[in-house]
Amino acid sequence: MTRRILVTSALPYANGSIHLGHLVEYIQTDIWVRFHKLQGRDCRYFCADDTHGTPIMIRARNEGITPETLVQRMHGEHLADFQAFSIAFDNYHSTHSEENRLLAEEVYCKNRDAGHIHTETVHQAYCNKDAMFLPDRFIRGTCPSCGAVDQYGDACESCSATYSPLDLKEAACALCGEKPVQRSSEHLFFQLAHFESFLKEWTRSGTLQTEMVNKLEEWFSSGLKNWDISRDGPYFGFEIPEQPGKYFYVWLDAPVGYMASTLNYCQRTGRSFDAYWRPGSTAEVYHFIGKDILYFHTLFWPAMLHGAGFRTPTAVFAHGFLTVNGQKMSKSRGTFINARNYLNHLDPEYLRYYYACKLTARVDDLDLNLEDFAQRVNADLVGKVVNLAARTAGFLSKQFQGQLCPVYPADGGLHETFVQAGEEIAALYEAREYSKAMRAIMALADLANRYIEDHAPWSLAKQNKTFELQEVCSVAINLFRVLQTYLAPVLPVMADKTRDLLNLPDLTWEGRRLPLCGTTIQPFKHLLVRVDPKQIEALLADSRSPDVTVAPTLPVAAPSSPTITLDTFAQVDLRVARILLAETVPGADKLLKLTLDLGELGQRTVFAGIRLAYTPESLRDRLTVVVANLAPRQMKFGLSEGMALAASPDNSHDKTAIFLLAPDAGATPGMRIQ
Ligand code: MSP
Ligand code: ZN
Repeated sequence: MTRRILVTSALPYANGSIHLGHLVEYIQTDIWVRFHKLQGRDCRYFCADDTHGTPIMIRARNEGITPETLVQRMHGEHLADFQAFSIAFDNYHSTHSEENRLLAEEVYCKNRDAGHIHTETVHQAYCNKDAMFLPDRFIRGTCPSCGAVDQYGDACESCSATYSPLDLKEAACALCGEKPVQRSSEHLFFQLAHFESFLKEWTRSGTLQTEMVNKLEEWFSSGLKNWDISRDGPYFGFEIPEQPGKYFYVWLDAPVGYMASTLNYCQRTGRSFDAYWRPGSTAEVYHFIGKDILYFHTLFWPAMLHGAGFRTPTAVFAHGFLTVNGQKMSKSRGTFINARNYLNHLDPEYLRYYYACKLTARVDDLDLNLEDFAQRVNADLVGKVVNLAARTAGFLSKQFQGQLCPVYPADGGLHETFVQAGEEIAALYEAREYSKAMRAIMALADLANRYIEDHAPWSLAKQNKTFELQEVCSVAINLFRVLQTYLAPVLPVMADKTRDLLNLPDLTWEGRRLPLCGTTIQPFKHLLVRVDPKQIEALLADSRSPDVTVAPTLPVAAPSSPTITLDTFAQVDLRVARILLAETVPGADKLLKLTLDLGELGQRTVFAGIRLAYTPESLRDRLTVVVANLAPRQMKFGLSEGMALAASPDNSHDKTAIFLLAPDAGATPGMRIQ
């Protein structure tokens, strides 16, 4: 029976752009899925955007759009990035979907009815001004352990201490700067401890890598804690059945997104959802994840599934984190590289190959060393693989109308060796030992290159040894074809080009066994060019974020700078404005109310968070730059009809370090910035 396999990658947050760290996971998973498909297995790859939670809500608010609009836009961006890297999902859905609402409710209600959900009172930081409970990441203050200022509510980046936000000193709301108060609220808790014996059995039944099992043993021995699965509104998420004003915590409905994506796919294609997820399913279900989200996938998720009467995953595969040139990705070093930015400079297949060379079945971190990256791609892919065809296909085209020998020539057993190696290489792919698989493939490539060196087709051509020339080139092309088959899960674009070159309908693992004889090939075209170190320099230069953020009144939780097109930029209507009047705002010590003259666009009122940097008098009659077509935003103090632009240091909470932008002398109100 063919294996029915369902594979997932973790759902990326809709809150940010895809970067090279994420791509470790999506490339690792995609290679695995492509490998199984190449073997002719019934394998499906599902994913979705993870859309709910406070950060997305705040970001949407800052952009003056609804969370739904933001989520939709990010879905498009993410998909475009994934497609460019040849990440071939069978379905890419969203956790903000009806399928997910239904399934999340089912998971919750069944657990509730089985007695696995309890209510507890929790005390949490609350901002009166923003009228909301503040997640730990939305509180900043002084670390109670080392005194470092401006730390998050749950952990100190300076001394790595973790603590409760209630212990943070001089705590302030990250949104408005007000001091939060303590407030209590009833929350719903999932009783993880009910599942201890089930989880112990599940984790020890071969579902996890050894390192993970050890980690879980630690968690078991420190005791399974109940899990808070509800949040109070305002919250972007699903309201909990029969609990008005309470929402599922994002991590409750996020993994349910795996099922929702399956359901959406099955409904579109007439397949059976139950055959994947309900008890009795004979499908294999695998989750690829990063090591940071182990707890959710190996404790909460299987327990929730079990409690709700669904089947549990066959295995969870965790990988480590990406470092670039040996260090954590960093914006200032230019090594925090977005997918989009990479695509502006380099071929995605380079990265797929490099990651494959680095990936193992273990949870170790992996390093993208950019020098090594260029060297490996050039030496292996261009030097060893592409070269095989580049050095021989031309002779076939020029002297034999592209025709391969009608009978496969004697090659000293090389082709047979190549075919045999396929067993081991397949086992390595299956075991996620891509690094070893790449080594095995390159060892074959070395054999093929030695064959060419030994038989020197270029001298055969000079000596007019036509018969031998056709033989040697036919052998080379056939070896090349086997190599490309083995590399196809990693390099799908090159595999397609190879298929075209060889006039083949497809490249399949089984198909490699029979050499091509008597068929013709197409004229050779470029398959892959060398990496030029200049491209890497340009990529790093482009990834270095300028340390400015616009709009100090509207803090953005995670500043990211994906490349945009001129058209996108042109959608922002930037205008010169004259400040007619600047006034303080009672009750808001960081705001100034600006009355602006925008020339032909008339007068506008804009609230700007620049009070600590400017006195109202100093602004009078000054020119500045505003976003004129920003959706008006209702604030407590009135309607803000645009945004004044200012620069400030990244991540700074020093509200005096704000610099209003202004045009050079001669500009007049209403002028368009273009
Ligand atoms: N939304 C959650 C996952 C929910 S799954 C039900 C999440 N999203 S994420 O966008 O932060 O990360 C998505 C995946 O990318 C995670 O598996 C994470 O471990 C992985 N990575 C994110 N940054 C990474 C690196 N720098 N290196 C390697 N993998 C990384 O977590
Ligand atoms: Zn606040």
